[in-house]
Amino acid sequence: MNDLPHLDNYHVDHLIAEGGTAKVYWGIDLRSGFPVAIKELKLRHMSNASIRDKFRNMETQLMLYAQHPNIPKLVDFLDLKSQNQMYLVMEFIQGRSLEHYIYREIGLIPEQKALPIFLEILDTVGFLHRLRIRHMGITDGVLHLDIKSNNVMMTPDGRIKLIDLGIASRMGADTSTGFGTPSYMPPEQSSGGRLGKYTDIFALGVMLFEMLTGRLPFTSDKSNPREYRTEIRNKIQYEPTPLMKQFYPPLSENLQYIVERALAKNPADRYQSCEDFANCIKTYMRERK
Ligand SMILES: Nc1ncnc2c1ncn2[C@@H]1O[C@H](COP(=O)(O)OP(=O)(O)O)[C@@H](O)[C@H]1O
Ligand SMILES: [Mg+2]
Repeated sequence: MNDLPHLDNYHVDHLIAEGGTAKVYWGIDLRSGFPVAIKELKLRHMSNASIRDKFRNMETQLMLYAQHPNIPKLVDFLDLKSQNQMYLVMEFIQGRSLEHYIYREIGLIPEQKALPIFLEILDTVGFLHRLRIRHMGITDGVLHLDIKSNNVMMTPDGRIKLIDLGIASRMGADTSTGFGTPSYMPPEQSSGGRLGKYTDIFALGVMLFEMLTGRLPFTSDKSNPREYRTEIRNKIQYEPTPLMKQFYPPLSENLQYIVERALAKNPADRYQSCEDFANCIKTYMRERK
């Protein structure tokens, strides 16, 4: 059983989720009575200055300044030095992850439903890519770098929220840190290359593939964790994108082509922006009618 943190102003009720870097609790803001999600950096990461800095100076600040209806709002940030803990308090998002929705509820999302949801995600990532926050030195946008179905939440009314800005980075000088989720990482992200909007575009392509077919384009046997990352990386680097039709025959070649372009091995062959990607999808939707 986990010990729940004791925080002034918040009643911490239970653990919602435990990821690689953080634990997230459900709680109540005792001042407003509103439900909140409280993200606690895991203790073993508190000793890593760069992770701590990223949590305080990037993830938290981005949530504060990147105001978008599809990004949860920051409520508070607590740096409890005496307990050697930091907590990011944010708006609680009701619902479940897109990953849960695909794999546990629906199997795959029919394109009439998947494409409007995906356009909403593209709009949110496009917003991050265009973001300017001068005092944070963000002059040319932000990369999310961990786009995946597990980091998209779906609310009961069918809207989406993009969460987990934990490894988001300033656009520009960034090269890969090795963080991220192997199945969604394009060649340049897993091999220390130069990152750009095209890096998020690849992950978005993986997610669209997943929504439309109910499976990831590049997978490997998880029972051998040592081999797992390398095998996925090799597949992404060298194997062609599988045909979506083999998993779900009704899908059209045009839609296959749209997804393949996002999944191009060479960044220059991908969509160069979320707007480009969205425009292709919108044209496709118009022509299908
Ligand atoms: N604002 C929120 N409202 C509700 N649940 C959340 C919220 N933020 C995170 N979660 C839950 O906690 C999990 C982990 O949060 P996340 O920010 O993705 O951390 P990690 O970096 O550990 O992946 C998410 O997958 C989601 O289930
Ligand atoms: Mg996450």
